[in-house]
Amino acid sequence: PVLVVDFGAQYAQLIARRVREAGVYSEIVPHTASAADIAAKNPVGIILSGGPSSVYEDGAPALDAGVFDLGVPTLGICYGFQVMAQALGGEVANTGVREYGATDAVLTGDGGVLLAGQPAEQKVWMSHGDQVAEAPEGFAVLASTTATPVAAFGSDERRLYGVQWHPEVKHTDYGQRVIENFLHSAAGLAADWNSGNVIAEQVDRIRAQVGEGRVLCALSGGVDSAVAAALVHRAVGDQLVCVFVDHGLLRKGERDQVENDYVASTGVRLVTIDARQRFLDALAGVRDPEQKRKIIGREFIRTFEAAERDLVAEAAADGEPIRFLVQGTLYPDVVESGGGTGTANIKSHHNVGGLPEDLQFELVEPLRTLFKDEVRAIGRELGLPAEIVGRQPFPGPGLGIRIVGEVTADRLEILRDADAIAREELTRAGLDQEIWQCPVVLLADVRSVGVQGDGRTYGHPIVLRPVSSEDAMTADWTRLPYDVLARISNRITNEVREVNRVVLDVTSKPPGTIEWE
Ligand code: XMP
Repeated sequence: PVLVVDFGAQYAQLIARRVREAGVYSEIVPHTASAADIAAKNPVGIILSGGPSSVYEDGAPALDAGVFDLGVPTLGICYGFQVMAQALGGEVANTGVREYGATDAVLTGDGGVLLAGQPAEQKVWMSHGDQVAEAPEGFAVLASTTATPVAAFGSDERRLYGVQWHPEVKHTDYGQRVIENFLHSAAGLAADWNSGNVIAEQVDRIRAQVGEGRVLCALSGGVDSAVAAALVHRAVGDQLVCVFVDHGLLRKGERDQVENDYVASTGVRLVTIDARQRFLDALAGVRDPEQKRKIIGREFIRTFEAAERDLVAEAAADGEPIRFLVQGTLYPDVVESGGGTGTANIKSHHNVGGLPEDLQFELVEPLRTLFKDEVRAIGRELGLPAEIVGRQPFPGPGLGIRIVGEVTADRLEILRDADAIAREELTRAGLDQEIWQCPVVLLADVRSVGVQGDGRTYGHPIVLRPVSSEDAMTADWTRLPYDVLARISNRITNEVREVNRVVLDVTSKPPGTIEWE
């Protein structure tokens, strides 16, 4: 793989995706990995990410300088560029000059291998305080800006390159070109990573892991578990049994979609378990979001364990136990839960952090190295219905983390109705492609005064949280047309009992997360 060394900014995942978009497989490693750790992964290229620190700060994330002696083509970005400069004898200085946002960069000559084929002047996205004051010996300066004389450098001999700007963000005009030049020209890598290869590779892996064993899959109704199960089904056929838990935290119509559409398109064997009461009991009195997430994750697994016992008993004739459990865990879940890098645990995703320690299944996670858009591409390749593959993300803990306050049957009913209206109107307005997802949140612990007919009401607010995003790592609130918002608001306040106010969340991520809990 190409290894992306994570210096603690959220940019590492974006870089990893851009590398894959260029047709080369990439993985993220923490900056604390030693040169030996890194060499052990047989990297064909290394990219050092940006980071929030100054190389001079105490405790600034460092890198084993031995990485630069591995002979592996390496590209440093922003902070990674400065780390490279410092390690190789260049000079990094705090000049007091900061550059943020769009900046004009001017190439030196033809820009060398890294910037080849790009206009002499281009817009790049900057975000830095320190700067490289002097390139290391033997390195050519490839570009500069007014404030930053050394904005890119490279040594063709050592195949080491760096840019001060962020080529991974869309605001940088020729960003993807920089990454492609590095991968294809400097490192000589072919663009041969695609969904067809991923399917073939995962099918082999699944067969190797599972052998003749039986596999249980947790279908959630979302695209991740649907694609994971379809992959496993392709690998081991009827050794797979899918279990769909109706935990009562689903949206309107979701159970039907799984029980009918999905089964029809895949041919998988499906057992539905009605665990609505069990989840309500477990969540009774709980208001803390992290606790809710842990409980829901735990109950999920417990429910599957019970299902397993039943299924095994049922299959007592051949007595083969179910040893494996499929989960649709994605790469961002792994990274955000601290499993892939040294980055902070922001929320415990129920696929990862919420697992109980006495888990009795071995996990099969065929999507563990993939990003969402890659999963969709694989789903399409596997022939799943577009309506499932194109589904907007919905968190495993479901409506349980969209009720701020205690989860009760009544409140779920209210939220389900409001959510169905919002989804219906967004679809009708043709906005499904424009938004990444639109959580609808019930502020169950908040009441406000309203008036309806001649009477005073004292009801709950519903929050609309439409967001646009590429990967859910960062997001912006979607500027929905006012008339659509008005229609959703009118309908919800008229049709849903107990709701007398609809409000719009206008917060980006960061600082807000997409979900409210
Ligand atoms: P946040 O709220 O962290 O959400 O900005 C990022 C994306 O992840 C989804 N999400 C989850 N998905 N299990 C999941 O499978 C979870 O526990 C979970 N929590 C959040 C969220 O809907 C958004 O798409």
